[in-house]
Amino acid sequence: MIFYFTATGNSLYAAKQLEEHPISIAQAIHDREKLYRADRIGIVCPVFGHEMPQLVKEFLKGARFETDYFYILLTYGNRHGGAAELAGNFAGSLGIDPAYINVILMADNFLPAFDMDEQRRLDKKVDEQMERIREDIAEKRRWTAPVTERDRAVHREFLKKLSGTPPDFLKNLYEITEECIGCGICQRICPEGCFHLEGQKSVWNSAGCIGCMACIDACPMLAIKLRIPEKNPKARYRNENIRINEIIAANNQGK
Ligand SMILES: Cc1cc2nc3c(=O)[nH]c(=O)nc-3n(C[C@H](O)[C@H](O)[C@H](O)COP(=O)(O)O)c2cc1C
Repeated sequence: MIFYFTATGNSLYAAKQLEEHPISIAQAIHDREKLYRADRIGIVCPVFGHEMPQLVKEFLKGARFETDYFYILLTYGNRHGGAAELAGNFAGSLGIDPAYINVILMADNFLPAFDMDEQRRLDKKVDEQMERIREDIAEKRRWTAPVTERDRAVHREFLKKLSGTPPDFLKNLYEITEECIGCGICQRICPEGCFHLEGQKSVWNSAGCIGCMACIDACPMLAIKLRIPEKNPKARYRNENIRINEIIAANNQGK
């Protein structure tokens, strides 16, 4: 049994390498009884600011897992900042004791810092990394990816910077431009149901937004932008092996 969250398909791709039918966290979070039993239970999700996304943390908080092999696989694009340790600490605070926590380097979809055209071209040897991870999990290996003092310092530095950002930062993060044709893709791909249509235009409500940027990457008109500088506002990303409809099916809140 694998649970995943994805904004642009990397984590879904990784999850599908491990099991044919992984379960979307954006859907499972609505399960009334979140008691899950399986021989192996995995969580696959991206790293946001070195940690698991808020949606994944909320899901873990409300769920109970009965398994003798609980594992976490974190997809990241550039610096994991000790993500394995941070995820382990978070799981530990909930009484979950993961047997295995690993990280996998994939395309970095963080639009302020990276050009998606460049990221698409880089060969990060995803399938080689995945092969080893698949073997580890098949063998039920007990292990956590090593974290260095440097990783911890990177995370501390990040937290320091974050504490200096205004509290309403996320509230003003996205802008919907005149290019919007009201196709509704943003509405269907948002895992938090933050969009609705008013006539032929999409409207974003920041309440609940986890800043995953799935909407920005999926917009066919490039009509959703960040209000902070982007590396390349013309380039957007989706994992080449994942169809947009798979991400929509994963995240759609049915509004
Ligand atoms: C809001 C946000 C924060 C991110 N933070 C980090 C980070 O701290 N370190 C990192 O290496 N990658 C970071 N990334 C990149 C993603 O973790 C990476 O591209 C991931 O594979 C995307 O997975 P997905 O396609 O399943 O959404 C971030 C991406 C976003 C959108």
